[in-house]
Amino acid sequence: CGIVGYIGHREAYPVIIKGLQRLEYRGYDSAGVALLDGDLNVYKKQGKVATLHDFAKDKPLGAKVGIGHTRWATHGAPSDHNAHPHVSNSGKLVMIHNGIIENYAAIKTELTQKGYTFKSETDSEVFVNFIEDIYQNTLVDLAEAVRLALTKVIGAYAIVILSTENPDLVIAARKGSPLVVGLGKNEFFLASDATPIIEYTNEVVYLDDQEIAIIENNNLTIKNIEDVEMKPYIQKIDMELEAIEKGGYEHFMIKEIFEQPRSIGDCLRGRLNANEGHLHLGGIQDYINKITNADRILIIACGTSWHAGLVAEYIFEEFCRIPVEVEYASEFRYRNPVVGEKDVVIAISQSGETADTLAAIELAKSKGATILGVCNVVGSSIPRATHAGSYTHAGPEIGVASTKAFTAQISVLAMMALMIAHKKGAIKESVYRNLLLELDAIPDKVAKCLDLNPQIEIISEKFKNATNFLYLGRGYNFPVALEGALKLKEISYIHAEGYPAAEMKHGPIALIDENMPVVFIATKDGSYEKIVSNIQEVKARKGQVIAVVTEGDTEIGSMADHIIEVPAAHEALMPLISVVPLQLLSYHIAVMRGCNVDQPRNLAKSVTVE
Ligand code: G6P
Repeated sequence: CGIVGYIGHREAYPVIIKGLQRLEYRGYDSAGVALLDGDLNVYKKQGKVATLHDFAKDKPLGAKVGIGHTRWATHGAPSDHNAHPHVSNSGKLVMIHNGIIENYAAIKTELTQKGYTFKSETDSEVFVNFIEDIYQNTLVDLAEAVRLALTKVIGAYAIVILSTENPDLVIAARKGSPLVVGLGKNEFFLASDATPIIEYTNEVVYLDDQEIAIIENNNLTIKNIEDVEMKPYIQKIDMELEAIEKGGYEHFMIKEIFEQPRSIGDCLRGRLNANEGHLHLGGIQDYINKITNADRILIIACGTSWHAGLVAEYIFEEFCRIPVEVEYASEFRYRNPVVGEKDVVIAISQSGETADTLAAIELAKSKGATILGVCNVVGSSIPRATHAGSYTHAGPEIGVASTKAFTAQISVLAMMALMIAHKKGAIKESVYRNLLLELDAIPDKVAKCLDLNPQIEIISEKFKNATNFLYLGRGYNFPVALEGALKLKEISYIHAEGYPAAEMKHGPIALIDENMPVVFIATKDGSYEKIVSNIQEVKARKGQVIAVVTEGDTEIGSMADHIIEVPAAHEALMPLISVVPLQLLSYHIAVMRGCNVDQPRNLAKSVTVE
C-alpha cells in the first residue's frame, strides 16, 4: 500500500493526490484522504486514485494538513468502508496504516467489550481505536499513547495519524513497512517511498523500525519505541523526477523495458572495466574472504527476484565452485533450515521491502550467516538489514511486472560471481577476461533485441486470444522460461507455465495440441541439440512453436512457426538477452487484451505483508 502525508503552508490535497498517483503502483484497490482544517473531512473510494479524485474534487479541500492512502487489501475486501483513512470512534483521530496487525482480533474483542464499534473489517480501524482507548484512559499525550499502543501490537506497520484536537501535529511510526519523512522549508512530507516527495525536496529521513516521528509546530522529533529520542539522520536523495514519469511511453512497463540498455549500463558503470580486466563491487569488498571461504551460498528471494536467483545459482556454481541453493523466502523462513556461520546468504529484492525476504534475512542472521543484499531501492529495509551488498542501480521501477530490475539483478549477481571466482582462483584468467568483455557488450545487445519490437508485436497479435502458454528452456534459459511465463500471466491473465524443456515429457506434453503456443528459449549453448529435439517433440504434437534463437540459426528456423533472433552471447549471460523478447511479448499481448499492464489486478509492486 502507499502512504502520503503533508503538513505545511501549501494546500495538502494536491500534494497528497499527486503523491498517491505516484505511489499507485504499490496498491490500487481503493484510496482515500483525510484533510484537517478545523473540520475533519475524509473521502474514500474503492478503485483507483482517479476515482477518488473525481469524487473529492468539488468537496472542501482547503486544508494544509492531510493524509492519503492507496490500498492493497489484506483484511477485508476492497470497498469504500475498508479504504483508509480510518477514523476513531470519538471522531478525533484519523489514521492510515500499511502492514498487518496480527493480534488485531484479540484487541478488537477487548475494544468491543468496552463499547467500541467498527465500520470496516480492517485491522487498521482496530488499531486507531486501540490508540484512542489508551489516549482516553491514561493521562498521556497523543504521541505517548501511540508509543504505548505500538508496544502492544504484534505485526508490521507504517502509520500516520492526525488529531482534530491539534491540527499542528502529525505522528508517524514504522515497523517492517517503509516510511520516509521529507523535510521542506516549513513543511513536511511523509510517504512510503521517496517518489511523491522528490518534487518538493531532496532532504529525507528514512524512519527505522520501531521509530516514531512527531511533527509538531514545525519541528520534527524522532524517538524509538523505548521512548529514547533519536537524532534524525538527514539524507540527500538524487532521484530525478523524470525517472518516475512515463517520458512519452504509453506505459511504465514498456518504458522500463526500453530503458534496459541504460539501466544495465548504469549497473555496470564504475564497477566493470572490461578492457583493463577490472571488476570491483565495493559493497561486498569487506566480506570477500568470508564469501570465497563459504561452505554454501543460499539465495533468498520472491517472484521475479527469485528467478534472478536461479540464474545466479548456475553462474555461481559454474564459476565459483561453491554449492548454491535458491529458496523462496516464504518457504525458507517457515521451516527449520540448516544455516550456520559458514553460509553466505544473498537476498535479492527490487523493492528492498518484501516482508518475507526481510524475515528470512533476520532468521539467517540469527543463525550466524553472513547476509548480502542485491536490491534496487536505495535506503530500503533489506539493504539496511544486511551486512553488505550491491545495489542494482536500475532506477525506480514503477510497472508492477518487474523488467529492468530483473536484468540489473542478474548483472550484479554475475559481477559478484565473477569477482568471487577470480578472488578464489576458481576461474581461468582467459575465461574471466572473456566474460568481462561479454558482460560489457550486453547493453548494446539488449538494444538490438529492442529493435525486434515491431516483429514481436506482430507475433503477439497472433496469440493474443490464447488461453494457455508453455515456456520451455534448458540450462541458463530455464529460469528465463519461468520468468517469461510469470510475465505473461501477471499482466495478461493468460495461464502460462514455465518448465525445463526436458521435463516437458514428464507432464506438460499431455497439454500440447494445435491450440497450445509453446515458447522455446533455444539460443546456442551447451544444450542446444537437446532443445532442438524438444522442439521436434512439440511439433510432432502440432503445438505452435515460438522460438527465441541465436541470430543466424537456420536449423530451428525451419521447424518453428515463429522465430525471434537475438544476438549471440556467452551462455551464462544469455538470460540478460533472451528475456527481453519475452518481456515484449507479454507486454503486447496484455495491451491487445485491454489489460492494465502497469497495475495488473490483485498484484502489488512491493509486498510488505507476509
Ligand atoms: C511482487 C512483485 C514482483 C516481484 C516480487 C518480489 O510480487 O509484483 O514483481 O518480483 O514482489 O519483490 P522484490 O521487491 O522483493 O523484488
